[in-house]
Amino acid sequence: MCGIVGYIGKADATSVLINGLRRLEYRGYDSAGLAILDGDRVLISKSPGKVANLKEQTRLAWSPELCHRVGTGIAHTRWATHGPPTEVNAHPHLDQSEDIALVHNGIIENYRPIRARLEGIGHHFYSETDTEVLAHLIGECDKGDLFQAVCDALHQVKGTFGIAVLSAREPGKIITARRGSPIVIGVGDGETIIASDASAIVAHTQRVVYLDDNDIAIVTADSVEIRDLNNVPVTREIAELGIDAAAAEKGGFGHFMLKEIHEQPESLGNAIRGRLDMDLGSSVLAGMGTSPRDLAELNRVVLVGCGTSLHAGLVGEYAFEDMADVHAEVEQAAEFRYRNPLLGSRDFVIAISQSGETADTLAAVREAKQKGAFVMSLCNVVGSTIARETGRGVYLHAGPEISVASTKAFTSQVAVLLMMALKLGRGRRLSLDEGNRFAKEIEAIPALVGRVILQSARIAELAKEYYQAQHAFFIGRGPMYPVALEGALKLKEISYIHAEGYHAAELKHGPIALLEKGTPIIALACDIPGKDKTLGNIEECRARGARILGIITEGDDEAAEYMDDYIAIPRSNALVSTIPAVVALQLFAYHVANLRGCEIDQPRNLAKSVTVE
Ligand code: F6R
Repeated sequence: MCGIVGYIGKADATSVLINGLRRLEYRGYDSAGLAILDGDRVLISKSPGKVANLKEQTRLAWSPELCHRVGTGIAHTRWATHGPPTEVNAHPHLDQSEDIALVHNGIIENYRPIRARLEGIGHHFYSETDTEVLAHLIGECDKGDLFQAVCDALHQVKGTFGIAVLSAREPGKIITARRGSPIVIGVGDGETIIASDASAIVAHTQRVVYLDDNDIAIVTADSVEIRDLNNVPVTREIAELGIDAAAAEKGGFGHFMLKEIHEQPESLGNAIRGRLDMDLGSSVLAGMGTSPRDLAELNRVVLVGCGTSLHAGLVGEYAFEDMADVHAEVEQAAEFRYRNPLLGSRDFVIAISQSGETADTLAAVREAKQKGAFVMSLCNVVGSTIARETGRGVYLHAGPEISVASTKAFTSQVAVLLMMALKLGRGRRLSLDEGNRFAKEIEAIPALVGRVILQSARIAELAKEYYQAQHAFFIGRGPMYPVALEGALKLKEISYIHAEGYHAAELKHGPIALLEKGTPIIALACDIPGKDKTLGNIEECRARGARILGIITEGDDEAAEYMDDYIAIPRSNALVSTIPAVVALQLFAYHVANLRGCEIDQPRNLAKSVTVE
């Protein structure tokens, strides 16, 4: 979604801001802008579209000296919520005096009455945004102390914000604050960088401070002073980012998505390494914070998440019931938070989120904590809000996922859920032998995935038979049902082919009416329990002229007979094989989208981290 960068220090502010915005491009946006201080005035440059447009526009509008002015600035990439993605609606926004500039992520829910009140006392607004209203409100509150003005204004607003504010009347500082929208501050050597996402900071420093909700900071080139909105000082530790700047580059691949698909043997290795105990036939996940008694008394596991993370949760549901003999259910986070869920202290709530910032998942975490459940998280981004608010859980260690379409985070989520199920299983009903067998299957996952990735060129050839389709159906049973959902999501979001995932048995209850000659059916027909039934469903589709692309188990000649085309994955346990199967579908979606010339890493209308409801 929207991205914020702020800079104060010894380098040329415009270049730092534009480079920072570039690092945030993967999050999805539709316009961009920046503001720098030029003596006693604020200079602004904005543009619809890409950061490259903003760079060019700034170069044309500003003198070379201004474009390389050392000092202070703030910048923003916008994902439109209030008003279309035009230049005038792009951030930064100025207050009435035009001395104060503001960039803002989040939504000010009560901006309409505030705008009406300010208009009543002579304020004039140019944009349709809630952000311009907040800028004017800060200006109205400014009686000579910018920090106090921001505090006073934020006391009057409802909603969410991550903001950075500068003023020509108080150069040498930026005020930044958060509620519900992340802000991280990079502490460099004679320079400080503010960002909504650490990827804009890695090029400068590894030392960062994460703001908590309702924190407000006064940032200079040499200091970061954090208080709460009532002006009471608070202490936040400096943390190490631990992200390699090179990890945020494409490394020779045409797209981040392809790079991230190829990284999976390594990212899965990082998720699994050191977390299996072969002697105990179990997993070592200390971050879950569970005692043997918690496991024995466990009543239910509830998995919450959105999109791809929700699909990982659905695989987890099968794993917890199969391996740990515990009732498990999965709920879309937005539904969970408003449904008044029945929860108690013997219920584990596992929040799954790559970014750790998804608004609905965060709200679900808060609801579950409020109800006294045992809440933990499964996040990729270290130090993210969900990871910090749950305080317990397991990090994926998948490295930065830049492509908007999630790939390596999904497979690591599933791998960690399998390890959680193993741990719970061993605490409840699994024998040492059973635990050991399952642990060995999990240990083999990176190698299995490597074998699927070796087939990328062949899958690219197969994609030529399917890339002109208008519709596609993905079908599967058991743990392959969520894989069908995930395969369909991947294809639709990056290729814009209309794709639906169904339980294999469900097609004949309605969707089969849509099948025509040549309609692609992507069938998860691996040699696991339920395969025979899926093959029967495939026959029903073939009889109606559909073209079948099967994901089958290597050496399964019987299944191959049913398919027009197939991709074979290595044989493994049913739960484990969800991971190589989904990797085959990721490659398929990638190659189809590539043949269609789509903008794979930043699909239209999408954002990497969805911080609005
Ligand atoms: C799809 C995708 C999204 C995310 C969803 C949740 O490829 O990436 O569906 O999975 O927006 O995001 P996180 O996992 O960050 O909570």
